[in-house]
Amino acid sequence: MACMKAVIIGVLLSMATAERRFPDGFKFGTATSSYQIEGAWNVSDKGESIWDRFVHTRPEAVSDRSTGDVACDSYNRWREDVQLLEDLHVDYYRFSISWPRLLPTGFANRVSEDGARYYGDLIDALLEKGIEPVITLYHWDLPQTLQDLGGWTNPLITEWFTDYARVIFDLYGDRVKTWLTINEPVVVCDVGYTGYIAPGLESEGRGSYLCTKHILLAHAKAYRLYEAEYKPLYQGQVSLTNQMMWFVPETEEDAELTELVKIYTIDRYCHPMFSAAGGWPPALERLIAQQSAEEGEPRSRLPPFTQDEIDLVRGSYDFLALNHYTTRTVRRAGEGEVGTFLVDGFRELGVMPGNIPEWLTSTPHQPEVHPGGIRALLGYVKQQYGDVPIFIMENGLTDLGTAIDDQPRATYFRNYLDQVLLAIEEDGVNVRRYTVWSLLDNFEWVHGYQLHFGLHRVNFSSPQRTRTARRSARYYAAVARTKDLDAQYHFENIADEL
Ligand code: NOJ
Repeated sequence: MACMKAVIIGVLLSMATAERRFPDGFKFGTATSSYQIEGAWNVSDKGESIWDRFVHTRPEAVSDRSTGDVACDSYNRWREDVQLLEDLHVDYYRFSISWPRLLPTGFANRVSEDGARYYGDLIDALLEKGIEPVITLYHWDLPQTLQDLGGWTNPLITEWFTDYARVIFDLYGDRVKTWLTINEPVVVCDVGYTGYIAPGLESEGRGSYLCTKHILLAHAKAYRLYEAEYKPLYQGQVSLTNQMMWFVPETEEDAELTELVKIYTIDRYCHPMFSAAGGWPPALERLIAQQSAEEGEPRSRLPPFTQDEIDLVRGSYDFLALNHYTTRTVRRAGEGEVGTFLVDGFRELGVMPGNIPEWLTSTPHQPEVHPGGIRALLGYVKQQYGDVPIFIMENGLTDLGTAIDDQPRATYFRNYLDQVLLAIEEDGVNVRRYTVWSLLDNFEWVHGYQLHFGLHRVNFSSPQRTRTARRSARYYAAVARTKDLDAQYHFENIADEL
């Protein structure tokens, strides 16, 4: 019996190994962000962030009334995280810098020694293990001091952000070669100005569009700074990463509306950077101008770019990065119906997001699993913006449980990776990196610690915040080590069944 088992496993392994291997040079990583894992919210001279303020003043906004005050305690336990990363065999680790930890006033007049040392030590430890540090400059924890001055709606933030970027490039540019300026602008702006997440202000379709414009300009200025002063020295690469869901029409009649939803959520952020012409997607510009006129506005709520701004933003990238989790269906909202999901633009467009029953999971926050969505999305991005190198900077599955045996998550990764490989091999999409969200269970924003994304379970009741590898971590480690998406998967599933 044992012998037979070994033969079956051997055959399966050899069959799979030949066929489902990612190309040489393809890189695998995993990701976290500062507020979600670090804790230590008020140590040393760290300033207050908008998330510190939000969770402390509006506890009811977080489903379990928790905070990121301690989170995974990675400010103190980062060496354990580095060990987990080594065990995962990943090529890189994507993490973010907390702006108020590095610049306690929010401005570049004072750099925190402790903050600078913390990230410097982490970078050095990763490099020692042969793991590339990939840094996000802004993953949602804006200094409260800047929010008090209008945050992303104040045009001056483009300068404050560039000053912050300069401090970081000066400190770490010699050792860090891959940079993401901003994580998911559509969430920062659209969701950030619904009141649902920090800064907890409601200004949909006005504050959100000011934010959209300024965030793109802030990114572009930081990009141009790197391009002019640091790239010649260090040859690094810079972009930002966008949240991109995939959308399919509920019926044929919803096809046109679905295209508009893609323009609204995907191209609003990509067209200014990646298209040949630059600027807002024309269809979006027309739509918001028309809506604004009908509402009696003296000018469009979507602020225009000047030609200089168009030129600044257009081409401000070395790769195109995206975060993808799920697919939604689209139909027109009926009388009195209000579409509420991640992106509030559904409301602006009069759209109802929906589900296809076969894709449903039991998790409210991420209701659909549809691996084909990532391939379709990658095809769309290629069709819109050409043969740009694509980095998938987040992909993952949430659940409500804390099981170590997270077979559905391992299967999710296997099936999404399969579609990514098909996009590369069959559709010729230039995908270069794939990143799992997340290394650890962590503070999932307004869902607190109720939703889990981790390759590693974190015990949030223990002062040690004990980390334990899940089955999905074993699967992903095998993929990262072999670049083969099937071998370990078959091995584990067959081995369990026999
Ligand atoms: C997007 C965000 O970048 C990250 O912070 C969040 O935890 C994951 N998606 C999962 O929702």
